[in-house]
Amino acid sequence: MTEQTPVAIIGAGPAGLTLSHLLHQHGVESVVLESRSRHEVETTVRAGILEQGTLDLMRRTGVGERMEREADIDEGIEISVQGERTRIPLTELTGHTVAVYPQHEYLIDLIARRQADGGALLFETTVDAVGGTEDAPVIDYTDAAGRSCRLRADYVVAADGSRSPHRSTVDPTGAGRHRHEYPYAWFGVLVNAPKTQKELIYATHPEGFALISTRSDSVQRYYLQCEPSDTVDDWSDDRIWEALHTRADSPDLRISEGEIFDKAVLRFRSAVTEPMQRGRLFLAGDAAHTVPPTGAKGMNLAIADVAVLAPALVRALRGRPELLSDYSDIVLPRVWRAQHFSWWMSSMLHQAPDATTFESRRRLAELSSVLSSEAGRRYLAEQYVGRDLPEFEV
Ligand code: DHB
Repeated sequence: MTEQTPVAIIGAGPAGLTLSHLLHQHGVESVVLESRSRHEVETTVRAGILEQGTLDLMRRTGVGERMEREADIDEGIEISVQGERTRIPLTELTGHTVAVYPQHEYLIDLIARRQADGGALLFETTVDAVGGTEDAPVIDYTDAAGRSCRLRADYVVAADGSRSPHRSTVDPTGAGRHRHEYPYAWFGVLVNAPKTQKELIYATHPEGFALISTRSDSVQRYYLQCEPSDTVDDWSDDRIWEALHTRADSPDLRISEGEIFDKAVLRFRSAVTEPMQRGRLFLAGDAAHTVPPTGAKGMNLAIADVAVLAPALVRALRGRPELLSDYSDIVLPRVWRAQHFSWWMSSMLHQAPDATTFESRRRLAELSSVLSSEAGRRYLAEQYVGRDLPEFEV
C-alpha cells in the first residue's frame, strides 16, 4: 500500500516529535517513523537541562503543563574548583532560568500530545530506503508487523540521531562534516538518594571533572570524567563514591549517597554537517550536529532547528519556499555557537590525561579569570541559558 504525507519525519526524538507537533499546530500533518519501541523511546536515559527558549516554546505550544508542575526551575548553577564553589546567578545575570527536566519526560509529553491530536507515530518501523526523484521522495519501510510499505512525501526530514544514514545523502563526499574528538568521557549514574542541594554543581579537580545534577527529590544524576575506553565494569560503587567525594565535596557540602541503579559511559564528540539540506531532504538535531554533554545543549539545539524548519516547511507547502531554502543558513550560527560553548565548558572543566603542567595551570587561570569577573560570569550565564528561539509567521 502506498500512503502520502506532506512531511515524512524519520526519528521520534526531540527534533522529530517537536517538528511533528509544531507542524500540526499550523494545520500540516506528518508521519513519524521510529525504529525503536515506544517503551524504549520513553525510558532511555539522557540529559536533562531545558533552556529558556525551549521552555517558552513548550508553554506557547501547549505541551508545558507537566513540565511546569514537575521540573525544577533553577536560577543558578555552581562551579566548584577543588572544592571552592562559585555561584553563577543565571537569573540575576540574564533574566532567564533553566529547567531540570529529563529528555525522556519531554518525549513522553510529546508522544501523548501527538497521539491525542491524532498524529501518525509509527514505532518499531524501519526505513529501508529513501528514494524516488529529487522532487518526489519515496520512503520504503518495514512496519511493526513486518510488512513492506511505501510512503510518498513532499518533504523528508531525517531526525534519527548522530548515526543517521541519511546524512550521507545530504553530504555524499563527507566534505561538509566537521569533527572534534575529546580525550575523555563521562561515567553517568542514577542514584536513589536525597538531593545534595537544589542547584547543579560543575566540579573540576586534579583527579577529574564531576557533575552533580538531579532528577527528583529522591533520584539524583551524577557524572564523573572517565577514560573514553572505560566500561561499566571498570567502576565499582566504591570507586564511584570515592571519586565523587574527592572531586565534588567541599568543606560544607557532602555529595549525598544512595543505591546506584543505573551506570553508563557517555562519549564526548563534536560534529557538524553543513549545509543541513539537499533537495527535499533535511537534517535536524543530532543527525546534523552532535555536541559533548557539558552544558546539555543537544536537545535544545534539536528543538531550535525545528523551530525554524516547521514554519519553513509550512510556507513551502503553501508555495513560498524561500525560508526553507535558507534553513541551514539560519540555524547553523546557533549550532556553531553551541559547539563553541560545549567545547569551551568541556575544555575549561576537564583535565586532559596528557595535559602538560603549563596547560593545567593555564586552564585553572582561565577558570579563575572567568569566575572572578562579573563580565566572565555573565558571559557564561548567557551561553548557559541560551538565546530566545526565532519565531516566524507562516
Ligand atoms: C545534565 C547533563 C548535562 O550534560 C549537564 O550539563 C547538566 C545536567 C543532566 O543530565 O542532568
